[in-house]
Formats: sequence, structure tokens, C-alpha cells
Amino acid sequence: MKARLPHGRAFVLSGVKFYVAFLFLCVVFLLAAGFAKFMAIWINWVCSLRIARKLVIADKGLNLLLIGAYPLALLYGLGWHGAQFLRGGGATSIEPLWWLPIGVGIFGLVALVHAAIRFRIYRPPACEVDVRSERLDLRTMKSWRERFVGAGGIMRRIALLPGNEQFTIEVSTKTYRLPGLPATWDGLAIVHLSDLHFYHSVAKDYFKLVCEQAAKLQPDIYIFSGDLLDDVRRLDWLPETLGQLHAPLGQYFVLGNHDWYLDPVATRSELARLGWTDLAPHFASIGSPADSSATPLILCGDETPWMGEHADLTSAPQDAFRILVSHTPDNLEWARRHQIDLMLSGHTHGGQVRLPLLGPIYSPSRYGCRYASGVFWRDPTLLYVSRGISGKEPLRYNCPPEVTKLVLRSTPSSGR
Ligand SMILES: [Fe+2]
Repeated sequence: MKARLPHGRAFVLSGVKFYVAFLFLCVVFLLAAGFAKFMAIWINWVCSLRIARKLVIADKGLNLLLIGAYPLALLYGLGWHGAQFLRGGGATSIEPLWWLPIGVGIFGLVALVHAAIRFRIYRPPACEVDVRSERLDLRTMKSWRERFVGAGGIMRRIALLPGNEQFTIEVSTKTYRLPGLPATWDGLAIVHLSDLHFYHSVAKDYFKLVCEQAAKLQPDIYIFSGDLLDDVRRLDWLPETLGQLHAPLGQYFVLGNHDWYLDPVATRSELARLGWTDLAPHFASIGSPADSSATPLILCGDETPWMGEHADLTSAPQDAFRILVSHTPDNLEWARRHQIDLMLSGHTHGGQVRLPLLGPIYSPSRYGCRYASGVFWRDPTLLYVSRGISGKEPLRYNCPPEVTKLVLRSTPSSGR
């Protein structure tokens, strides 16, 4: 095989030399994958901070540029050493400058393998005692493109990509047995919705259908954990969507970082007008309809780091079952310190794209992909992270949107 490497003339690759060249390209590929993972760790961390949207977008652009430039730089910079070796010039030492990007690539590769193993061995905690799910494939419905896909442009083309799961909704009922749940509240049912992201990429009818599915689940409480809008003009979709949901114990919400970017005051006001209670940054005490003397339920909200502060629970009853609605799962340690029994979050969208074997790569959390979605027991808190309903980019693979009803059961040892 004839080859031309940087700084060198064409020469013939044969036998062992061919395999050495192939090995070199494999190493470059692996280092490039590791570097991409390192960049993903960086952008995941940046997106977990209270940073202006323009800076986040600029950082994402820089990330993509560096991810593209890295393998080219390696091929150019290290190709000379490879060419020397293949010509029979023997191995030459690599300049110290190159060890930094190589080290970053190796670090990222180790992180990639570690995250992939963690993703593969993930199992829900033992307190998850029952899961019933069905998938609603909207693409089998008549005129689904006209009804559910948004207006033209690049977002519509993304939405219509083959195999895209944006229009395959997983509707689930999951049951958890929690030691802290008083017997009075046994069977409490919560429908958790997150990350609607009203935008022009997905049509209003899609969200109307999502809310119809949520209504069919007939919970005691509706919770929305933030990121309602990516276009403030879509606020008028609310009456026909979340505005249609009513539960015996109420509807509660917090807002997310995408709402913070736009107009959180108008969003709160419209949600409140439609009967939704704002939980951030305080708590609501809910009495049991079956027993007015029973310990109340405490529902609190958290929109940090983007808005407000953590809820002040000093006046909340110590023995009450505590539920925290936090847009980001990053507030998990605060929840644990404040004896939160159940924490409901979104924000990470499950990563939206989960690669075979590797799992999610992008998950805007300081924990990276660790809490991208799913349920996690971190004593004394059960954290549930929703994959959400949509996203600004309507792209999902191995990560369908979810509408989930959580049914909480007490245990015989529940003393409260
Ligand atoms: Fe979101």
C-alpha cells in the first residue's frame, strides 16, 4: 500500500509496517474519543453552573471545534514520528509539548470506560418494587408529521431523522417502598413531568397528547420540575397543556435554567393563574385528606443555582415526609443533609442520545452522566431523575421521553 504521511514523501507500506500504521491510527482514534469525553465532562460541568446562555453556547462551539481539531493535530504532529519509524529510521522521542494533549486523551479514555461500566451495571435500588411501562409510538398515528412535528428548518429535519425516539413516549407507573413514608400516606401517587421545552421544533399537539396521558394516570399530585420554555411566545400553549391537569392534592412546579434565560416572572404568573403552585424557594405543607391529625406532607422547591436559594426548612415538622422538587439533580447533597425522603429532578434529559455500550455522553450536571436519569438511593434520599418530555433539539436515541407516575408505599417499619 502506498502512503503519504506528514513531512514525508510517498512510500510503500507492507507487512508489519502496514499493521504498525494501522495501530497508530487506532491509537489516534482512541485518544480522540478520550479527548471528546474530556470535553463532554467540561461542558457538562459548565452547563451545571449559573452562567449566561451566550457563554454556554460559545463554550459548546469551542468544544466542538477542539474535538474536531484534536485528531487532526495528533495526525499532523505525531505522524512525523510514525513516518520516520516506518521508513526504518527507528523510534524518535516525542516532544514534551505533545504529552499534555496525549495525557488529556488518556484521562478522557479512562473516564469513558469508567462511565460505560457504571452505565452497564446500573440497577435500580431494591425499594423499586414494581414497574409497568408502555410505549406510545406517535409515528404510527395518522398524519403524525403534521400533528406533532414543528415548523420547518433544521429542527424539523432533526425531528424526522430515522430512528429518532422524540415521538415515542414511555408512560410508566413505578412503585417504591419507602421506610420514611407514614402509613397515612401509603399509596400516594405523583405524576412527575419535566423539561417540556416549548419551542418551534415540536408542535403543541404533542404536548397536549403528553398531558392527556398524564391526566389518564389520575395521581394525587402533579409535579413539574422545570424547563417549560425555549421560546417565550409559546407561553400561550399552557392553558391547553399543563393548564388541563388537576389533581386532588394540587399541582406544583419549579422552573429551570431555560426558563431563567427567558422570562421567569411571566412564566410563574401564567402557571399560577392556571392553578399551579410555585414551590421555589419555600415549602408547602399538605394535610392528609383521610386524617386531618396525621403528619403532613412537606413539598419544597429548589431552582438553584440559577434562581433563588435553597428552601428554609427550619419551621417544617421534623417527622414529616419530605419531597424536594429540584430542577437539577446536583442538589442531591443538600437534600441528604436536610433529610429529604424523595427528590424529583429533570434537567439532564437522560443524555438524550445514549450510545450503544457507552450510554449517555452529554448530561449537564457536575456529576456528569452519573445521574443522567433513573432512580438512585442515597440514604436517606431517593432521587428520581426524569428523562423529560422534549428538548430544544428534538433528538433522542435509546432515551425516549417519559411520563411517570410514582406510587409511594410505606413499609411495616414506617413509624412516622
Ligand atoms: Fe431541560
